[in-house]
Amino acid sequence: MSSPEASKAADYLPGGTYATIAFDPGAGPEFLFSHGAGAYLYTTCGRRLLDVMLGHGSLILGHCHPAVVEAVKRQAELGNTFTHVTRPAIELAEMMVEDVPCADKVRLVNSGTEAVMLALRLVRAVTGRERILKFEGAYHGFADGLLFSTNYGRPDRWREHPLPDADSPGIPSGQADGVLIAPWNDLERTREIAADAAADLAGIIVEPVMRGLASSPGFLEGVRSLASERGVPLIFDEVGTGFRLARGGAQEYYGVTPDLAAFGKGLGSGYPIGAVAGSNEIMRRLDPGSPDGERVFSLGSFHGNAVSAAAGAATLRELRRPGVYEHLAAYGNKLRGSLEELFLRFDLPVHMTGEANIVEWFFTADTVTDYRSSLRSNRALKERIGREMRRRDIFGGGGRLGSSTEHGKAEMRLTLDAMEASLSALRDSGELH
Ligand SMILES: Cc1ncc(COP(=O)(O)O)c(C=O)c1O
Repeated sequence: MSSPEASKAADYLPGGTYATIAFDPGAGPEFLFSHGAGAYLYTTCGRRLLDVMLGHGSLILGHCHPAVVEAVKRQAELGNTFTHVTRPAIELAEMMVEDVPCADKVRLVNSGTEAVMLALRLVRAVTGRERILKFEGAYHGFADGLLFSTNYGRPDRWREHPLPDADSPGIPSGQADGVLIAPWNDLERTREIAADAAADLAGIIVEPVMRGLASSPGFLEGVRSLASERGVPLIFDEVGTGFRLARGGAQEYYGVTPDLAAFGKGLGSGYPIGAVAGSNEIMRRLDPGSPDGERVFSLGSFHGNAVSAAAGAATLRELRRPGVYEHLAAYGNKLRGSLEELFLRFDLPVHMTGEANIVEWFFTADTVTDYRSSLRSNRALKERIGREMRRRDIFGGGGRLGSSTEHGKAEMRLTLDAMEASLSALRDSGELH
């Protein structure tokens, strides 16, 4: 049942929401959140929900971490937008350069989408070529240039690799010419696609844990070698993995260093920010002093804004505390193991995946290696579980269960109890399979 305040949303916002992906499409919001604190969200009607969505994975420190709130307040009182570089922006970039293996320099933007857009422009400028190889199922933001063959499109409309399938009406057909689609974890096919594109290939972009699906051993290393052999930059889209798997992101975690990386989400603890980090050789193109014809355009009114940068710097300082990544990984690994046990107890064949703090699963007896095999799993069941979890005060929960530094024993218990109760309810109503 929707609260009166929540039902008003549909009068002014399309679908009563902020995005075209919703828990219950067409139903509008059931409730509104008034605030968040730590691992929890609170509705305007006084209900408390455990947050396992965490701002699409942005809130590694949970909601309103005191250090972040303090930094944001302090900076908001000093001003946000100066059309000039500020102390927090330098501080943030310095920490990123210290922690992120591929980073000699950093350009701050406002979102993960923007970071990816700029990374693509850079690799096209550097190589003078146009086609970007991306993996099927990977999401790199909502820009026209890469919104192809993601898992937000129409899975019933597969095209033969490497042909891309636009995920939305309104994407100019010409954009497809710049994109090649390869199957995740299939190095041989990826090599063939790169070889066929030959002199047109501008770069390869990888989401290191592709929509929660971990890479097979050696795959990322193989893609790294492939990019080097082809003489094109490798981009890691670390919007999801950055600062979550390790301080230096997936590149530190896996020991595979790309030429460029895009960041967002976790970098700002929920404040809008994105960043491109990369080698001096590539990043010098963003220097206003670089020669005409080489200089790559990058400008945004709010890029490097001081409040988001201060939130980012405070976040990275907190993430440098000892034990943070051990805690995040231990939580994720324990949750993955406990969920698997639970699913098996309910006779649900399942393929557990993800990496460390990123917890994902697919209901299938088969091994899931790529996007197409993931689609053979029971996705409707995941949605039903998500609905049941929300009824039990877990926000999210139908897949990719997020956690933060604020998630501990109590939150693990709540999650597992809610999952067990959700599975029991579905079994009782005959909706479990
Ligand atoms: C891997 C990846 N890249 C890019 C994006 C886009 O980032 P943003 O939503 O900040 O534009 C996302 C967002 O979900 C993402 O997960």
